[in-house]
Amino acid sequence: MRLPAALAALAAALLGAPPLAERLFFTTRPFSPDDTPPAPDYALPSSWAASPLHSQTSASATWVPRGSGEAEAAHAARLDVFWLHPTTYFLGRWNAPADSPTAALVTDSVPVREFAGVFNGECRVFAPRYRQLSQGVQDRFPQSEQRAAMDVAFEDVWAAFEYFLEHTDGRPFFIGSYSQGTLHAMRLLQQWLRTAPAAQTARFVAWYGIGNTVPEAEMEGVLPVCTSATQTRCFISYNAVVEGDTAARDHWHVKGTPTCVNPLSWRQDELLVGKEHHLGAVPLLSSAAGLWRVLLYPILGAPSESPDEGLLTAQCRDGVLYVSDPSANKSVGHRYAFSPGVGLHALDTNLFWMNLRVNIRERAQAFFMEG
Ligand SMILES: *[C@@H]1O[C@H](CO)[C@@H](O)[C@H](O)[C@H]1NC(C)=O
Repeated sequence: MRLPAALAALAAALLGAPPLAERLFFTTRPFSPDDTPPAPDYALPSSWAASPLHSQTSASATWVPRGSGEAEAAHAARLDVFWLHPTTYFLGRWNAPADSPTAALVTDSVPVREFAGVFNGECRVFAPRYRQLSQGVQDRFPQSEQRAAMDVAFEDVWAAFEYFLEHTDGRPFFIGSYSQGTLHAMRLLQQWLRTAPAAQTARFVAWYGIGNTVPEAEMEGVLPVCTSATQTRCFISYNAVVEGDTAARDHWHVKGTPTCVNPLSWRQDELLVGKEHHLGAVPLLSSAAGLWRVLLYPILGAPSESPDEGLLTAQCRDGVLYVSDPSANKSVGHRYAFSPGVGLHALDTNLFWMNLRVNIRERAQAFFMEG
């Protein structure tokens, strides 16, 4: 992700002191368990970005885009989602404290609202905070050296999942994840599906593991890829890349061959799917009001009244999801020009917001039909 580098450069320019900015955003020290923040207690509301069991936490996951005709199901929902957030911690430590206020601000303002929120028509949203690996470490240390800190993060994810299973009374659920969260979700499923009792795994509907490399080979014997819109007990994954962006394509191949399910057809094939199947995108920060909206107005433009339909084509090829450039659209393209990170990473959910919304509903219905 280029965002922290951009932030560091900005801070350096403002402060005129590159070493200070470096120290703020990056650590040079090796991982040490002594520097690890304490584990969160998932009985506490402060350990959740969203949880219907902790009324203080669930506000941001209740958002739906204006003009989408969608509504939040809240307590009428028959299902739940256990959703793992991406990296939202940019300060100079290996693992974020689970109660980091800066991480919470970022997590709640966009990912939980706009990404996890896509589930809220069918599901109650559970999104744990956890001792995530910082962005600085991901940028500066080789992956082989990140393992111990990833283990710390995963320890929390596992504890949160156990709490979730125990407190959701046999209700069916999805797992959802994005970016760093997708790496933890992959490990969670590998561990849980191999060992859990059948009565517990029978509650699981499907996993939407978006925005990271999920090699099919690593899920073999664990969970199959979803190859149709109504298949259940399977997983969906994709990484959106603008047609021709080979650097982004190569990035997603570093950790193996990524899985690509086309969110315009929900098939795992290499057919180009046309704009007529695109049900609607919503811009990032689409719910932001006030100062944020004013500051970002030159980049994002006017708040959208309704999702932008028919904006792009999509095709799985080379393991990634090639899409036509959404920012090239003359009337609404400016809303999709803001994309820090690799390819269209930050927009993986928002570009397909309505397709995801409809598909979550279809898969939920299929699950109940199967009984
Ligand atoms: C541009 O986007 C709008 C809104 O999503 C859509 O209706 C229109 O067809 C798009 N134009 C082109 C040329 O794709």
